[in-house]
Amino acid sequence: MRTPIIAGNWKMNKTPAEAVAFANEIKDALNAIEGIDIAFCPPAITIPAVAEAVKGTKIGIGAQNMYHAEKGAYTGEIAPNMLTPFCQYVILGHSERRAYFGETDEGVNKKIKAALAHGLTPIVCVGESLEQNEAGETHDFVSGQVRAAFAGLTADQAVRCIIAYEPIWAIGTGKTATTEQAGGIIGQTVRATIAELFGTEAAQTIRIQYGGSVTPENAAELMAHPDIDGALVGGASLKPSFVDLVRNAARQRQGESERAEIKLA
Ligand code: PGA
Repeated sequence: MRTPIIAGNWKMNKTPAEAVAFANEIKDALNAIEGIDIAFCPPAITIPAVAEAVKGTKIGIGAQNMYHAEKGAYTGEIAPNMLTPFCQYVILGHSERRAYFGETDEGVNKKIKAALAHGLTPIVCVGESLEQNEAGETHDFVSGQVRAAFAGLTADQAVRCIIAYEPIWAIGTGKTATTEQAGGIIGQTVRATIAELFGTEAAQTIRIQYGGSVTPENAAELMAHPDIDGALVGGASLKPSFVDLVRNAARQRQGESERAEIKLA
């Protein structure tokens, strides 16, 4: 059974003081939720303070980006070993970075390898645009992104990653993919591509999240799909009701495993 994970991608929101205050406000309630992994991905400058605030809880910390090189003349960039004292996760290849900051498939691949070499868990983002979706190109495009991101990895390395399937047309738009749409692409495209590349065991092991306008209201429904292992949450992770979102997702998954146990007995 894969443990689901919900990560809050705070994007470019909250000053250090606001970030710490928010983490302190919701950390105890989140810490009490069982059966699900939880991470905050705050802005880089706030990472040490937020990591300190959540110390001793189950909440992990993720960066929103990093550079692949160890050190050197890369003005404005952050190296993997600068993150490791504070972070367990790093989001890589988010569509906003691909759209606004020149992130390429090759760059994402290098960053994944660097993150793994430093013991960080990459949260690798893939997803199609509205035009690609309407043109029926979703499967080929998303499968291609997965192949490019995971090029040259071993199966052992691949299963240490998390993939976030985030259709660009659903990010920040209030337009969520339906459970069938999201679960279908995650199962038949993302997980199927991992199976082709690394075998069925790897495909059954790797965790794949959905992202794009996930809310406290729709989290449980999305989690009802057996291929959806959690969520990467933007806007809804900035509010105290993020606790309800995580709780609703965890309850859905726990209900399912209880039903499965009853069937087995
Ligand atoms: P959203 O963002 O939840 O605000 O749609 C998701 C993401 O970009 O990770």
